[in-house]
Amino acid sequence: MLMPNLNYAQLKDSYLFAHISKRIASYLKEHPGTRLLRMGIGDVSLPLCDEVIRALHSAVEDQAHAETFHGYMPECGAPFLREAIADHYGKRKIQLSPDEVFVSSGASDELGDILDLFESRSVVQVLEPAYPAYVDANTMAGRTILHLNSGEDNGFLPEPDESVRPDLIYLCSPNNPTGAVFNRDQLQRWIDYANAIGAVLLFDAAYEAFIEDPTCPRSIFELSGARTCAIEICSLSKTAGFTGTRLGYTVIPRELNRYGMNLNQMWVRNRTTKTNGVSYIIQKGASAVFTERGQQQIQANLSYYKENAGILMKALDELGIRYYGGKNAPYIWLRCPGNKTSWDFFEELLENIQVIGTPGAGFGACGEGYFRLSSFASRDDTQEASKRLLAYFSGQTSGAK
Ligand code: MLT
Repeated sequence: MLMPNLNYAQLKDSYLFAHISKRIASYLKEHPGTRLLRMGIGDVSLPLCDEVIRALHSAVEDQAHAETFHGYMPECGAPFLREAIADHYGKRKIQLSPDEVFVSSGASDELGDILDLFESRSVVQVLEPAYPAYVDANTMAGRTILHLNSGEDNGFLPEPDESVRPDLIYLCSPNNPTGAVFNRDQLQRWIDYANAIGAVLLFDAAYEAFIEDPTCPRSIFELSGARTCAIEICSLSKTAGFTGTRLGYTVIPRELNRYGMNLNQMWVRNRTTKTNGVSYIIQKGASAVFTERGQQQIQANLSYYKENAGILMKALDELGIRYYGGKNAPYIWLRCPGNKTSWDFFEELLENIQVIGTPGAGFGACGEGYFRLSSFASRDDTQEASKRLLAYFSGQTSGAK
């Protein structure tokens, strides 16, 4: 009899965001027509910027004519996009060769796919609270997972634990879900530790575009020693509104070797075997993000989400609810008032004010008692959510901060 991958038996019934979607669908079935304010999954609400739309239209037109038509794309990414991304790093004084940049169909896809490079016996360390796909994808592969908890005492930015020797370490900065951002010294300590023990850092930089503080690196390759220990996974989802359009990129330096094998070359081997690349049209749209006008236009959208975060933070300040993030990051991580569990708080907000957030327990055991709000909703919904929060909690939370 065929034996399926028995590691799936170790997973929770459903993935965090799928579980929440199911709960919302059942709520809407019982309360049809309710206006829900979705501050849960980090899905953008603004359309793609004009520069990207123009490039997408023009690429569609290219596909209509024999002279400009494109069939299969290079598996690791179109040269025009790999070069545009390498130049973009170059403007920030990070020298990359285009062949160190791999175009992907999105960071979440890539975070799962990249695990092909590592033995199923390798030991993975996840700094929690964490994006739940890190744990789920490694559970599917049967890897041993070390959970390194963080909390308010260390600002949700844990230091390396010298007593363990993981092979693969996930870092996410700005962090999803806490919004915490590593400064240069903190990130350097992780790089030095990884180099000392021969580990590889998987640096999830999906939210780098939200960083304003110049003391916080937007790329791990701003720091010395990263080229021998880090892989950086980036996304246009939140940076440029590509959640539904899908495009990301991954940087694997040429110097990244383990056991005499070169991880950049291994990824070329993997991609040329397992994908036929990302669509020409989408890669053209993505390349517009890296033009001067594209960069200006995406900044306008990022500012809109930052202002949304400001609106939510103001309401929490008025209510005296303690929170983290919201600055240099699109997520606000709040302490559930009244010491409620995060799922109880989720239900309370859903039932009483129809505001959706994400329960902290979904990001690891140490997320219990916390709740995540996203700043990616529309301005109207964000203002309405903050009004409802203020009206509902006024009087309940004074002194909670
Ligand atoms: C989140 O809400 O954590 C993210 O939007 C999910 C994702 O990027 O897949």
